[in-house]
Amino acid sequence: MPHALIVHAHPEPESFCSAQMREATSALEAQGYTVEVSDLYAMEWRADLNRGDFTHTPPAFFKPQADQLQAVTDQTFAEDVAEEIVKLQRADLLVFSFPMWWFSLPALLKGWVDRVFAMGVAYGGTVGRFETGGLSGRKAILLFTTGSTEDMFGTYARDGDMDVILFHIQHGMFYFVGYQVLAPVVSFSPVRHSEDVRMQQLANVREAFLNLETRTVLTWETGQNLLALPGFRGAR
Ligand SMILES: Cc1cc2nc3c(=O)[nH]c(=O)nc-3n(C[C@H](O)[C@H](O)[C@H](O)COP(=O)(O)O)c2cc1C
Repeated sequence: MPHALIVHAHPEPESFCSAQMREATSALEAQGYTVEVSDLYAMEWRADLNRGDFTHTPPAFFKPQADQLQAVTDQTFAEDVAEEIVKLQRADLLVFSFPMWWFSLPALLKGWVDRVFAMGVAYGGTVGRFETGGLSGRKAILLFTTGSTEDMFGTYARDGDMDVILFHIQHGMFYFVGYQVLAPVVSFSPVRHSEDVRMQQLANVREAFLNLETRTVLTWETGQNLLALPGFRGAR
């Protein structure tokens, strides 16, 4: 039975964004997934990676990645990090559910990545990166709301190209640690819409999560691909 982890970051349980998370959960369960939700605000999750992430005592000069590697070897992650790593590793599908804040993730969710996608777990140490990353063989997807309307996004639109905006998350976080990345599910500016349109947006979320098997898998033309071309030296 496939298992999904939804990491949700919205401070208001009655928000549209939180309703989306519940809709996605129910659609996944309807297909036989077991679903676990890390509701970061409800959990009072700490966003900042610091010395408290470890039960061992980091040296005077704190180098987070070195301590993450040590924590993998000695099993000395703090309880909150260790619990999330277990959840991460048992999930075939990872969903980030959030409102777009400052063209990115809310700080709480970014902090979850800093602390849980640890070196030696998700990448680095004995673990690879990208196709050989620690979460390879699994899928990940973004589920989010915006304040801007759909027409405000685009190559020549004021907010810019959504693929570019999301690159640091979809490529820099998901693909970097090995996930196959599915096309994001976006509800544009629910706050500006009537109840009918908002209901349709929720129905679209349900439809998307009922049909993940056929959802587009994203790819990027990055330097890694170019380096594979004959004669291409690339910039280091
Ligand atoms: C701190 C903050 C930053 C925001 N930054 C953006 C942004 O960069 N782009 C955007 O479209 N909306 C932005 N918004 C608006 C939210 O994305 C929007 O209110 C939310 O997605 C609507 O869903 P909700 O009603 O469930 O909260 C921002 C809102 C806040 C509070």
